[in-house]
Amino acid sequence: MGEEELEQEQEQVVNPWEVSAKDGGKIDYDKLIDKFGCQRLDQSLIDRVHRLTGSPPHVFLRRGVFFAHRDFNEILDAYEGGKKFYLYTGRGPSSQSLHLGHLIPFMFTKYLQEAFKVPLVIQLTDDEKCMWKNLSVEESKRLARENARDIIACGFDITRTFIFQDFEYVGGSFYNNMVKVEKCVTYNKVVGIFGFSGEDHIGKVSFPAVQAVPSFPSSFPHLFSGKDDLRCLIPCAIDQDPYFRMTRDVAPRIGYHKPSLIESSFFPALQGETGKMSASDPNSAIYVTDSAKEIKNKINKHAFSGGQDSLEKHRKYGANLEVDIPIKYLNFFLEDDDELEHIKKEYAAGRMLTGEAKKRLAEVLTELVERHRLARSAVTDEMVDAFMAVRPLPNMFD
Ligand code: TYM
Repeated sequence: MGEEELEQEQEQVVNPWEVSAKDGGKIDYDKLIDKFGCQRLDQSLIDRVHRLTGSPPHVFLRRGVFFAHRDFNEILDAYEGGKKFYLYTGRGPSSQSLHLGHLIPFMFTKYLQEAFKVPLVIQLTDDEKCMWKNLSVEESKRLARENARDIIACGFDITRTFIFQDFEYVGGSFYNNMVKVEKCVTYNKVVGIFGFSGEDHIGKVSFPAVQAVPSFPSSFPHLFSGKDDLRCLIPCAIDQDPYFRMTRDVAPRIGYHKPSLIESSFFPALQGETGKMSASDPNSAIYVTDSAKEIKNKINKHAFSGGQDSLEKHRKYGANLEVDIPIKYLNFFLEDDDELEHIKKEYAAGRMLTGEAKKRLAEVLTELVERHRLARSAVTDEMVDAFMAVRPLPNMFD
């Protein structure tokens, strides 16, 4: 192996298909910001969101879960000047049920939709998963509808939300935009961004255009006809950034604003903060379909603890919160700032034990998953059809 290859192998990898830290360590998000060329989401932007919307900043903003952005300030400038925008996010339906990490962008998007009172388009890339996960067309389409139920259960407003799956929606103006994008991106360019090789089939090579074009309002003539100037804001985890680097490069060349992004870090695997959760290892993640008992067992058996290995040492040295998964998870989902601070203080000082932190985490996650299960069971087939109907949304900016 050459020196360069060796160096590459040790680097962290973050792209839509792989997230792994350097040498089994943690993802270095500062480095990622530099490498990708995005901007850090600082306190002044968070304060601005508060001021403009009158809503208290979401816990994911307060705690730095969403930590990076691209031109989010331009969205806020336009909004302050009386111009609205639309939100765009998505899901690649590769499994029957979502894990907690998948919920993060949707929970946050719901907050943005409510705070700014703007329309939202949600893309289900059943075509992407058909190609990458080698699923049949029929199975990918089925999973897209299943996942739509989970997404709707997050509480989106049907009068402002359009959900679509590529296998059903791609065509017309959406396809016109895809071809415009495809003409602007050379094979060398996609290889540079996504690392495709000569062995990859041509479906993969052209797919990025499908994920790019919901960033352009004219891809949705039933929603944004005559509004080509409308800006788009994309909430997602930072693994999706390569798609939108490409999109932002192309946008001005075909007459559109570059989409803005607001990007989160990853909700880590139970085993520790080395990467995303793995769909092939059910013990690496908590799923929205897990029972209270499964949640408790997974946390007790698999959640990496920063506590010491004997009671005596723990009382003396306390827990290392930097690597402790119960604390990381509570940081995402325990809303009460005072309680979180209290737990962190007591646990770090060794007065609280790992078992107690895990117990509180199991309660918080069980409540979240139960709430989700209840909401999901209320989503009927008719509601899925209604969210996915190609229709105007007359009061979407009110
Ligand atoms: P997918 O299905 O891999 O992921 C769906 C969304 O969840 C985010 N995500 C996570 N966020 C926090 N912690 C995690 N551990 C975690 N794992 C996944 C992803 O960043 C994503 O926002 N190609 C996309 C589907 C897509 C899309 C989009 C996503 C189409 N258009 C526009 C975002 C924005 C995919 O397969 O996502």
